[in-house]
Amino acid sequence: QTTDAFKPGLEGVIAAETRLSSVDGQKGELIIAGFPLEELAAHATFEETAYLLWYDHLPTAAELERFRAELAGYRALPAATLTLLEQVAQVRRPAMDALRIAAGAMDLDARDLDDHGLARLALARIPTIVAAYWRLLHGQAPVEPDPELGHAANYLYMLEGARPTPAKVRGLETYLNTVSDHGLNASTFAARVIIATQSDLVSALVGAIGALKGPLHGGAPGPALDMVFEIGDVSRAESYLREKLERGERLMGFGHRVYKVRDPRAEVLARAAEVMYRDGGDMALYNLAREVEKIAVALLAEYKPGRNLQTNVEFYTALLLHGLGLDTDLFTPTFAVGRTAGWIGHCFEQRATGRLIRPDSRYIGERNRRWVPLEQR
Ligand code: CMC
Repeated sequence: QTTDAFKPGLEGVIAAETRLSSVDGQKGELIIAGFPLEELAAHATFEETAYLLWYDHLPTAAELERFRAELAGYRALPAATLTLLEQVAQVRRPAMDALRIAAGAMDLDARDLDDHGLARLALARIPTIVAAYWRLLHGQAPVEPDPELGHAANYLYMLEGARPTPAKVRGLETYLNTVSDHGLNASTFAARVIIATQSDLVSALVGAIGALKGPLHGGAPGPALDMVFEIGDVSRAESYLREKLERGERLMGFGHRVYKVRDPRAEVLARAAEVMYRDGGDMALYNLAREVEKIAVALLAEYKPGRNLQTNVEFYTALLLHGLGLDTDLFTPTFAVGRTAGWIGHCFEQRATGRLIRPDSRYIGERNRRWVPLEQR
């Protein structure tokens, strides 16, 4: 039945039932396929999380081995996709644009794959696209995936051309698990809308990548880290942040549509970042970021009273990924690498409902216009 209530951002509207994740914005609680985030993120490999999201149980050793082998089989890109990336690199498009362009061509060599086959192909290839493009953009030859390495390790290996340390792999696994799914966020909704038309999985993922790119969704961590760098010293934090707020600017890495308390992902990532930075990173930067966070939250309470603007996932994403050695421009594509698991899980769920997503709009335009011939306008 149709209601007249107009919700411009669809807040409070339930448009899907899911067993993938539960986001409680008042309690600051995130459950991923039954696991509290804190329980899952630091233990699982990303392959285990993806498998859990898709099939609703942790894989057995045999299932995991098979899944890893399937992903390894798909990881390398078709030659035509690589050629496309070379051309994109020549015009120096941002990595997120390259991902959107090449993701649409990632299944060029695939024949007769069902959703589950395409899912494996996409999960395996999205990191390869990002890493290959990054190297091409910087005048380096892409690095072939290493069949002995897992998903997270391969991503770092294909970016850097050297096998990453176990500490770095663990840091990245924790990050990818943490962002693997998050209720009906904008990119996931976009994917569900596309798959619900009985379109194909790759189309749904390309749409999701486009939605993730925007700074109000996945594009915030770069600016959040830039802000910490620009502040440079804790003595300048308050005046810098005040000036931004006086100009009416938003502080990137703070505020959330759903969370009205601290985003639980922020804590998990802050802890993972601390481990990484203690293990030979720039502890001064980590400490500065923690101070900036405290001051920012206090100022947001002053400038936007009653809004409960707290730290979101992006703030510590920036710090963790920077600690992993990733450039700022890789932050959003790396978010996509993790969220692909959730997007695909949601596509499976939406496909199973068989239901087209088609809301209503309220017409606010003119009525009864009369045609005016061109020469009389
Ligand atoms: N800095 C300053 N003011 C803010 C901020 C912020 N980060 N976030 C919200 N506000 C203000 C906003 O200007 C508005 O003020 P007013 O009512 O005076 O016009 C009020 O707070 C709206 O608050 P809201 O209704 O809670 O915000 P929203 O649901 O429309 O927006 C948001 C949520 C994430 C888009 C917003 O908080 C924002 O732009 N944050 C900065 C960007 C960012 O960090 N994005 C990553 C989000 S987390 C990633 C994910 O989960 O996908």
